[in-house]
Amino acid sequence: MNHDPKTFRIKSFGCQMNVYDGERISELLTETGLAAATDGEDADLVVLNTCHIREKATEKAYSDVGRLKREDGSRPMIALAGCVAQAEGAEAKRRSPMIDMVVGPQAYHRLPEMLREAARGARPVETDMPALSKFDALPKRRRANPSAFLTVQEGCDKFCTYCVVPYTRGAEISRPRADIVAEARALVEGGAKEIVLLGQNVNAWEHEGHGLAELIREIARIEGLERIRYTTSHPADMTDALIEAHGEVEKLMPYLHLPVQSGSDRILKALNRSPTTETYLRTIEKVRAARPDIAVSGDFIVGFPGETEDDFEATLRIVDAVRYAAAYSFKYSARPGTPAAMMEDQIAPEIMDERLQRLHARIAETQLAFNRSTAGRETQVLIERRGRRAGQMIGRSPWLQSVHLHTSAEPGAMLDVTLTAAGPNSMTGALRQKDAA
Ligand code: 5AD
Ligand code: SF4
Repeated sequence: MNHDPKTFRIKSFGCQMNVYDGERISELLTETGLAAATDGEDADLVVLNTCHIREKATEKAYSDVGRLKREDGSRPMIALAGCVAQAEGAEAKRRSPMIDMVVGPQAYHRLPEMLREAARGARPVETDMPALSKFDALPKRRRANPSAFLTVQEGCDKFCTYCVVPYTRGAEISRPRADIVAEARALVEGGAKEIVLLGQNVNAWEHEGHGLAELIREIARIEGLERIRYTTSHPADMTDALIEAHGEVEKLMPYLHLPVQSGSDRILKALNRSPTTETYLRTIEKVRAARPDIAVSGDFIVGFPGETEDDFEATLRIVDAVRYAAAYSFKYSARPGTPAAMMEDQIAPEIMDERLQRLHARIAETQLAFNRSTAGRETQVLIERRGRRAGQMIGRSPWLQSVHLHTSAEPGAMLDVTLTAAGPNSMTGALRQKDAA
């Protein structure tokens, strides 16, 4: 192991908040004097920014640590960061002797200090959750992707019975409005055209009596910023003010990620998810009244303890009722320390597999139907990256669809595009006259 790391690499897993944290860790390490390793180069320090949401994700963290051993038997300095670090703490060092540092998602501003301690041979563990102090200690944002993440809220007080987030990310806290607006400005100055406001419970953001709708309206006033999104929302916090903003704020994109998790009220109760399917559907109706073309996406858990075939069929029905433009579905995974892990009637793996397949198929249908409904539309696409084929670029439509098109425009360009064809997972686009010239 190199005790004086000069180069680093960060691997982020899990949600977008981890991607955001990974970017901030990268900025912090750069400010400390390290340089990001180039592609293919062996980094002196590897930060594994891990996810604990399902058992598979946690196991992956440890197998990734093992894989960092090089052929000659040497290895980089290894920092275990993120939610596995938070959940396991010092236990992680016992499980893997290769781990030099363990740092939770609220403590990574201490990394420079921890690196010095590790260089002296210590194996520091930082899993304190000092509310908001990391944000004050991190360097200012300078460069940003065309679509930039901005964490506005962290943690969760909802305690869904299956979920580790309240334990790994801590209690719900909102960052102050002025800090968020300042960071948004810095991101736009650094090249962002779109800002995605992030929070485990983003629509519960609240500061000095202001809610997310007001925050969105304020950020929309930033010149040079063209698009605003936010994720992930909880159905119980979907206020009328936020719904209205969808009809009024032009920069707010017509997309809403609003997970319901199950279509069965009996299961929703067991999940400790508050609104019933009826209130959820009513919320979706209101959102569509405010913004008729809105793309709705969701998350589902199949095979929660006690889920019957009837419960599962209710989930299939809610997919049809909402006509999701996209949805993510997961097999229930018992997480240590959560109430559901102790429940009886855990569902057999074969049943979970079978239900997951049926749910995937149903979601694929509604997603393709949504994509087809947008074919032929003239819209704008924000170019994000190069495609696989020569001259091909990939961007996003307002409805968050990936759009493949041929253009010489660079990432960050906002182009007038006609969506010419719909696929199951993406759209094809063609430049409209103005840009084609
Ligand atoms: N098992 C399976 N899926 C889970 N999710 C959260 N916790 C679990 C779990 N224990 C899913 C939920 C959530 C998404 C981010 O991950 O659907 O919305
Ligand atoms: Fe994974 Fe949840 Fe942590 Fe995000 S907050 S990294 S989804 S465990």
